[in-house]
Amino acid sequence: MTYKTVKYEVNGHIAKITINRPEALNALNSEVLDELNTLLDEVRANKDLRVAILTGEGRSFVAGADIKEMSTLTPVEAKEFGYKGLHVFRKLESLPIPVIAAINGFALGGGCEIAMSCDFRIASDKALFGQPEVGLGITPGFAGTQRLQRLVGPGYAKYLIYTAKNIKADKAYEIGLVQEVVEADKLDETVQKLAEKIANNAPVAVRASKEAINVGGQVDIDSAIKVEENLFALTFSTEDQKSGMQAFINKGQAEFKNK
Ligand code: CAA
Repeated sequence: MTYKTVKYEVNGHIAKITINRPEALNALNSEVLDELNTLLDEVRANKDLRVAILTGEGRSFVAGADIKEMSTLTPVEAKEFGYKGLHVFRKLESLPIPVIAAINGFALGGGCEIAMSCDFRIASDKALFGQPEVGLGITPGFAGTQRLQRLVGPGYAKYLIYTAKNIKADKAYEIGLVQEVVEADKLDETVQKLAEKIANNAPVAVRASKEAINVGGQVDIDSAIKVEENLFALTFSTEDQKSGMQAFINKGQAEFKNK
């Protein structure tokens, strides 16, 4: 499948998705969202993949949903557009493999929201974060009101959403919105190394950990620890568990086969 507004590369066990609309600072219009929707099915279907990276082409990560497209929407059309983004971001968040957001520049509105749908975020020191929607007369529409408060707590979520203030990468790090900030020219290398580290671990165990965190995070603690209990037990049916533990005991190197 070829795409116009997204680039898709696979290198070994690592997929790289690049939002590719630099002339609009990678703003998310319907076309980008539709292509991402299809692309995510392709990622999900590739059983060799162990981790994915999401980034933006040029000087921006994603500067939000496309304001020009949104400016003339009726409420019914806005609901459709909102649904499209919400659905694609949920699909991204629910991929069985981890996704790292490599935030190379603006992560505003829908850009901050898509970054929050990834498993964790590594930012360039040039990155800028914010939810500017109320300044445009709208609310966040791709789950910013929900994922932001879950990541940084309701205080900072309200502070950012009500003021529409943009924050730099160091502040985003301080409030827990991003996990690491690196010099702009070190971003690719840093994210690649993290992706390789994930890809070198037991794939079933990584996927099960993601499932435990994502599913468990949405239910009461008793149900959540049951999820972990069952997934933990399931990993003992894998060859990778045998190989991983034998390697430790024999002071060798495990060879994980995703089995
Ligand atoms: N939608 C559509 N086009 C956008 C865009 C967006 N979100 N962000 C940038 N662009 C376009 C600009 O219109 C401009 O296009 P033209 O050359 O055709 O005029 C081009 O990208 C370059 O942008 P600027 O000239 O503005 O670049 P800059 O460096 O001066 O400013 C910026 C960069 C601060 C990011 C500024 O572009 C900006 O404020 N963008 C909008 C950010 C924003 O408000 N995002 C939230 C959108 S609402 C949303 O996302 C709702 C939701 O939750 C679903």
